[in-house]
Amino acid sequence: MPLVTAIMSLREALIAALRSLFRGKSFLKALLAFWTASPVAPGVPIPPQDAGAKAGADPAADFLAEAEHLLLGYIEAGGLKRFSRQLKRQFKERLWSNPECMLPSYNSQLPTGYESGQYLALDVGGSTLRVALVELGGKGAEGAKGAEAGIIRMDSFKIDNHVRSLRGTLFFDWMAERIHRTVAKDSTKGHTPELPLLMGLAWSFPIEQTSSKGGKLSTMGKGFLAHEGLLGQDLGNIIKSACQKQGLHVELSAIVNDSSAALLSEAYTNPSTRFSLILGTGVNIAVHLPVTTMDQPKFGDRPSSWHEKASHVIVNTELGMFGHDILPLTKWDKLLKADHPRPDFQPLEQLVSGYYLGEICRLALLDAIASTGVFGGNVPPSLQTPYSLSTETLSLIEADTNPDLSVALETFTIRHPIPSYRPTVADMTFLRTLASHVSRRSASVVAASLYALWELKADAERALLADPSSSSSCTFAAAEADAELAIASSKTTVAFNGSVVEQYPRYLARLQAFVDGLLAETGDENGDGDGAQGPTELKKGSIALVEAKESSLRGAAVALACLS
Ligand code: BGC
Repeated sequence: MPLVTAIMSLREALIAALRSLFRGKSFLKALLAFWTASPVAPGVPIPPQDAGAKAGADPAADFLAEAEHLLLGYIEAGGLKRFSRQLKRQFKERLWSNPECMLPSYNSQLPTGYESGQYLALDVGGSTLRVALVELGGKGAEGAKGAEAGIIRMDSFKIDNHVRSLRGTLFFDWMAERIHRTVAKDSTKGHTPELPLLMGLAWSFPIEQTSSKGGKLSTMGKGFLAHEGLLGQDLGNIIKSACQKQGLHVELSAIVNDSSAALLSEAYTNPSTRFSLILGTGVNIAVHLPVTTMDQPKFGDRPSSWHEKASHVIVNTELGMFGHDILPLTKWDKLLKADHPRPDFQPLEQLVSGYYLGEICRLALLDAIASTGVFGGNVPPSLQTPYSLSTETLSLIEADTNPDLSVALETFTIRHPIPSYRPTVADMTFLRTLASHVSRRSASVVAASLYALWELKADAERALLADPSSSSSCTFAAAEADAELAIASSKTTVAFNGSVVEQYPRYLARLQAFVDGLLAETGDENGDGDGAQGPTELKKGSIALVEAKESSLRGAAVALACLS
């Protein structure tokens, strides 16, 4: 064996030995495997199966062990807590510095639950547009058991790739046409420029709010191009003008990000709600924070009356935009990034949301097919196209718990046929395991984010309680901080919504387990180098994830009701 080749191979053997240490194999055994392996002539390609045979292992099993290490190795030995602290540091920094995320809404007070009436709500999500009439029962209402928000009528329109790629006003014209179609069923009579139809809007994209009914259109993720040519314009006015072209006079009286909508919708019925998590096509968390946690310019030009009344505010974190330089990136994430039109716009979203989980898995699967010979070494032709493996397909595969994986096999072969090869149970078990590593990593990153924000909020409430004069209405602020700490010490409710967290098999349980694990960890609680004491007294507190069904529509209605 030539010396250079031998040195290279020794290096590889050492790396392999170190890796196998993680998997419980002996270091010595791995080194012995190197010295006893027969030399391979340089330049001769090693067929995939032989490459595995050389290490004396099952190449598919080795690939999966390696994938698990690459995707989830970062959480070992307290790694998840460390990652959570790094995130917390980024959250704090951006509450003071970054104009694109940590965006304060206009909602300072949470709903009381007494709000009532019928409201028209609009939900522009990553894959559907919905228009609905929502009825808020109100706690005090006759016959009502408690506050309830029911959907009386709803129309849904799918947003496919064609609609996603509509630029500027073309997208809003598409939207207005559907709003008109729905509302026309009820007759638009009586709605004039002077007496427009009032609507609440939940918007699943970043928005820099300039009032409770307006906000500057910002760059959109999830493959949408509607912001092109309209950046910085008022979203309420854009929709209003598009509707006018259809002869429909509307007024967007309340605009909220979908994360804020989820928080409002659950808080309407469940008063301990202080956070919301959206995890579907995109990801986001909203949190109710003391206004003192963020820099004044973040609030823009708000009337002093708003500041006088606000001790807290719902903040749209735009969680997807965090994580630069600290995320546990694998070679497959880097490939995804290399092909992404805006690789640095939402780095965290690329690891966790439904828009990307399928793609990460596709890239890893192509790698595995080439290097281990799973699927008989055949790449399904359809999987050559980026983003062709959907997260929904993964969820159907992970949902199949029967030993013969018949549903998974059927689903995969119908969606991604391979000419003259039928995937085996072993192939499907391989893909299912790979998918589970990808989805578990997603749950771990989301859990770390949630925990970091929970700690950040608790720190902020304690600081406010210690120095209420930092807020414009001190007595009120101190009372609020006290109440908030009491909630954090007992049970904080996180309202969740979105296809991944609601429907992906076992996702919610994994997420809750990661969160509980972080809460249970003892030791240096704070460790973020800022000298502040950690929330030790909150150790007993729990974080409960509660499903908020149809939270965008309900939340948009609650936002509207809170104003009236
Ligand atoms: C958007 C957020 C939104 C989230 C969940 C992200 O891509 O930037 O505004 O809340 O998806 O829908």
